Amino acid sequence: MKSINLATLQTLKSGKEKFAVITAYDASFARQAELAGIEVVLVGDSLGNVILGLDSTVPVTMDDMLHHTQAVARGNSKSLIIADLPFMAYANELQALENAALLMQAGAHMVKLEGGAWLEETLCLLAERGIPVCAHLGLTPQSVHKLGGYRVQGKDEEAAAQILSDALLLQDAGADLLVLECVPASLAAQITEALFIPVIGIGAGPDTDAQVLVLYDMLGISPRQPKFSKNFLSGADSVQAALEAYASAVRNGTFPDPEHSFK
Ligand code: KIV
Repeated sequence: MKSINLATLQTLKSGKEKFAVITAYDASFARQAELAGIEVVLVGDSLGNVILGLDSTVPVTMDDMLHHTQAVARGNSKSLIIADLPFMAYANELQALENAALLMQAGAHMVKLEGGAWLEETLCLLAERGIPVCAHLGLTPQSVHKLGGYRVQGKDEEAAAQILSDALLLQDAGADLLVLECVPASLAAQITEALFIPVIGIGAGPDTDAQVLVLYDMLGISPRQPKFSKNFLSGADSVQAALEAYASAVRNGTFPDPEHSFK
């Protein structure tokens, strides 16, 4: 696999070719992702759940994210690496800039943050300073206590319109990618069509430009398997083969199917 950058992902979107994203938190799994030809690796703050055994991502710190981003960057020199800015690490613009810079110096090629219109100024500042950004809308796990649980978002007309308008605003403010988590498949399809930046879905149906899964969910070793995830290790004889099966199912559009999507 050649090194992947933003231009590669934009070209894939233009050519209507789907790409695969997987989370990783250490050098060994990051290397497996590279060997399997996975285009994008996300050092997700989901490490709070799957590595640290926490019941949400809220307690994850910048030190946690820097430690795991450095490890992933050591293990993978080909995939584009995105690192999450954790809870309250981007509560204001200057704080976002400082923490994003630390993640980039730790080896990330892009940072991800959760939220809608309130992030407009932050995205403008990061874009001006040359830091690529992935926005994250729909179910935003750092707000789980405000949302009242891990629920599908954008189900009624008003909520769906809000997510679409936030997506357009964040794109205009400088977002380079968008993650859409746990939204109806029809809404994700509409947003993917409306945006020129690539849209990565998780629990967002088959029509986004890319899919992301939490590595430990797709290896079937998380204590709770979310409805939208699938165990790709079952039937594969190695982690690399499971990742290859996942990437190929994403690229040929067989994952996610209706069983792994929301209406
Ligand atoms: O932290 C994470 O792993 C994520 C994905 C679920 C998109 O944000």
